[in-house]
Amino acid sequence: MHENQKADLLFIEYSRCKAGASVDHKVVRELLVDGDPLYIIELLNKKILQEESERHTYGTPDQMLDLVFSKVASQISKRVNIPFHEMYRSVDPVVSFAERLYDCVRDHLRSILNYHCVFGGLPRIGSLLIYPKQMRHCYLADYSLKPAGLDVSVVGRIDDPRGFLEIDKITSLSGPLARSSAKGILTSGHKIVIQSGVLTHIDRRVDESVFGPSVDTLILADIAVMLSARQRAESIAEVGCGNGHIISAVAVSGGHQVRRIVFYDVEKNAVRCTHRNLMNNLNRVQRNNIDVVGIIALLQNAHLVDKFDLVVCNPPYTSRLRGSDALDRRSAVAGEELIGELINNAGKLIGNNGRLLMMLSSTSLSFRELAALEGTFAIEKYYSGPGIRVPFDLEEVLSAPEWLQFLVDEGGLEKEGDRYYHHLRPIVLELKHDAEPHSSI
Ligand SMILES: C[S@@+](CC[C@H](N)C(=O)[O-])C[C@H]1O[C@@H](n2cnc3c(N)ncnc32)[C@H](O)[C@@H]1O
Repeated sequence: MHENQKADLLFIEYSRCKAGASVDHKVVRELLVDGDPLYIIELLNKKILQEESERHTYGTPDQMLDLVFSKVASQISKRVNIPFHEMYRSVDPVVSFAERLYDCVRDHLRSILNYHCVFGGLPRIGSLLIYPKQMRHCYLADYSLKPAGLDVSVVGRIDDPRGFLEIDKITSLSGPLARSSAKGILTSGHKIVIQSGVLTHIDRRVDESVFGPSVDTLILADIAVMLSARQRAESIAEVGCGNGHIISAVAVSGGHQVRRIVFYDVEKNAVRCTHRNLMNNLNRVQRNNIDVVGIIALLQNAHLVDKFDLVVCNPPYTSRLRGSDALDRRSAVAGEELIGELINNAGKLIGNNGRLLMMLSSTSLSFRELAALEGTFAIEKYYSGPGIRVPFDLEEVLSAPEWLQFLVDEGGLEKEGDRYYHHLRPIVLELKHDAEPHSSI
């Protein structure tokens, strides 16, 4: 069932509770047991706001989200000593309904975290970021694996996340807990992100110089999951796989239909990290059935023998300072050589009806005008206008004043106060059947 339909059915259940009926636990559970429960609750929240004439019953525009994550969390912790059946009887049915939603979110997170804690090398205690589909919010959660089982709670929320962890935008759900989780995320050396049911873990002690996941990774993963479902992709490649989040999200969401996965990176640690994250996310059936290959190479040196239904790449996209040495091809963020290589090799990489999904940015100065590609590719752009405006946080550039100024002067970067912003421009390329091979860029 589609998430929107699930939200509609939850809305009916919510309306029943609002009229005084007690919550039907089974119905709520069945609607949230699989998929992305946080996303479904966000859709429900939107629906409540759209359809209720008496708005803001609970005080803020995010009434249901607030009810689920703040009041409920604190009420539950205050009432730990009350027997379960009395607890549910004692409260307003809408609060009880929200508690049920919260229980389902915790069960969902527990089911993902459990495997990674026990088998995947995740620390036994930690904090993480959760991005539901479409990224309207990011949630902060704390977890700990105890002898009695895994405990997890959502402690903070960031509305409209545009950066990795925007501390100044955190809505505290459980008071100081949210700030201390944020501090933990920034200082622990472990970066743990959940999106589309996939958990990606970067351990800085072993994953040295592995990129991300950052906001462009997450935006691209969200689109890649949609595109792979639309394409019914059986074979997928990721070029410049870094941490492996995108390929894992596509593989997991593709269920049994995915047959072959190939990922490339010039960094050995990136290929190793991708393999670990991918394997920790695939279920047993997928691990047995999917042919998985990791290749450590610059794309331009790789022997390209396979064609894929979907090729994804979040390449280094920021133009180098004109006249600077472009020979260092190992940067994860700077230079546009990989974009050119992908375009020149598209005919070798994408199969019939296949697609190449790639992230560009307003700082990809050479690829600002896509008209040059139109003879060879049908181009689908995501997001109208200039793209998605996000903070620009590449240290390599921020610490080089001349380079920074060059990007501002050329219109790739916008300066606002002491911060810089750029526009992310995800695009999808499909080879035109009658096209001449693209002349080298
Ligand atoms: C911006 S990071 C993206 C990592 C990951 N896909 C993500 O979205 O978080 C770019 C990655 O491409 C790799 N890379 C850069 N140039 C490459 C090339 N020519 N061939 C293969 N990998 C390359 C870098 O090592 C880096 O891991």
